[in-house]
Amino acid sequence: MSSTHTHHHHHTHDDSAPVEAELPTFRAQDYSRYDAESHEVWQLLFARRMATLQETASTVFLEGMTRIGLGADRVPDLADVNRRLDASTGWNAVGVDGFIPAAQFFRCLSRRRFPTTLGVRPRAQLDYLPEPDIFHDVFGHVPLHADPVFADFLQRFGALAAGARTPEETEQMARLFWFTVEFGLVQERGAVRIYGSGLISSHGDAAKALGPDCARRPFELDAVINQAFEIDDLQPVLFVVESFDQLFEAVDTLARRRAD
Ligand SMILES: [Fe+2]
Repeated sequence: MSSTHTHHHHHTHDDSAPVEAELPTFRAQDYSRYDAESHEVWQLLFARRMATLQETASTVFLEGMTRIGLGADRVPDLADVNRRLDASTGWNAVGVDGFIPAAQFFRCLSRRRFPTTLGVRPRAQLDYLPEPDIFHDVFGHVPLHADPVFADFLQRFGALAAGARTPEETEQMARLFWFTVEFGLVQERGAVRIYGSGLISSHGDAAKALGPDCARRPFELDAVINQAFEIDDLQPVLFVVESFDQLFEAVDTLARRRAD
């Protein structure tokens, strides 16, 4: 099993958590904990992904990465990232200790807080790791939060997901998250580009998503929320948006359906 799936832990478990759940305990990033090895692993991951992302990634990711100041040489300091990100869209990346329940995760999103793991994966697990790390969470996710349309979509998504009333609604929101935020594709500059964090942060999964064994279908809300996904296998079907306006419209449609 070669694919890297670091991206599902914070939103597919514990569907029974009450909507009124408290926010998680946030943890300050102790930057002194990152040793030379941590920075070297960041350098390896960053260099390997950027070698192809200039060609394969959405410009929204590439511009967001520049805007929030992610660098090739060192693990990012969240204070620096948040100074730039907050000024752009009001989002912040906040440190948490590993897994948090889905309801808490969604409530954080509804407040423009993105829960972020702080550790760096071991060098021996560059390609496969059982839980998210700061490369997945900050390199993979956070650049998109600097984009105004994506920023609004994700906040609105969080509010709607936190308010899910049935296991079916929760499952639909998990699928929408999975096929957009984690594994989303976008038609851009005449080709299909990647923007989902699971693809941005993993060269193996990105290659599969753009390769011959993946069916890339136009984004359609009902197809997405009825499409089961496999956490530990190649996704045989992924969805391509024309622009991020479609993401916002999808959440808007779900909100209106829920109000009916
Ligand atoms: Fe993720």
